[in-house]
Amino acid sequence: MFTSQSLSGDKPQQYAQLAAQARALLAGERDRIANAANLSALVYHALPDLNWVGFYFFDGTELVVGPFQGQPACVRIPLDRGVCGAAASSGLTQRVEDVEAFPGHIACDAASRSELVVPLFHDGALVGVFDLDSPVPGRFDVVDQQGLEEIAGVYLESLGA
Ligand code: SME
Repeated sequence: MFTSQSLSGDKPQQYAQLAAQARALLAGERDRIANAANLSALVYHALPDLNWVGFYFFDGTELVVGPFQGQPACVRIPLDRGVCGAAASSGLTQRVEDVEAFPGHIACDAASRSELVVPLFHDGALVGVFDLDSPVPGRFDVVDQQGLEEIAGVYLESLGA
């Protein structure tokens, strides 16, 4: 049984440890739902000041909520809406210091103040997004972005990328 270890050292070291834990957790499994569920739980419990961590999957038309940790969330997000839609349609990570200042932000949980959304592409096709919300303004810095992009990469590798 996988057991997560607490993280130590500076933030880049902690993200390196978390990525190693993610690789161990997903090793040998390719099911995208199972891996999204376990990865959401790992990250939600490992990192401080988060109120939502999870996945939206692209169904060919819009984003549909997948496995997550946190409060119940909006089910469907068009690609031209919100932070998640911006990440999916641009292919670029969206790091939003103040969600209330982001045009079109979708408030699923009124507690959310900052957000990081990493787009997920597999073989050039949009799979969905990996979304993290925080009740703390400016919770995510560049080191968080790099660390969480690597974790998203672990997820994509698990699909057989
Ligand atoms: N805030 C997101 C919606 C998803 S929830 O945060 C879980 C957005 O604007 O796309």
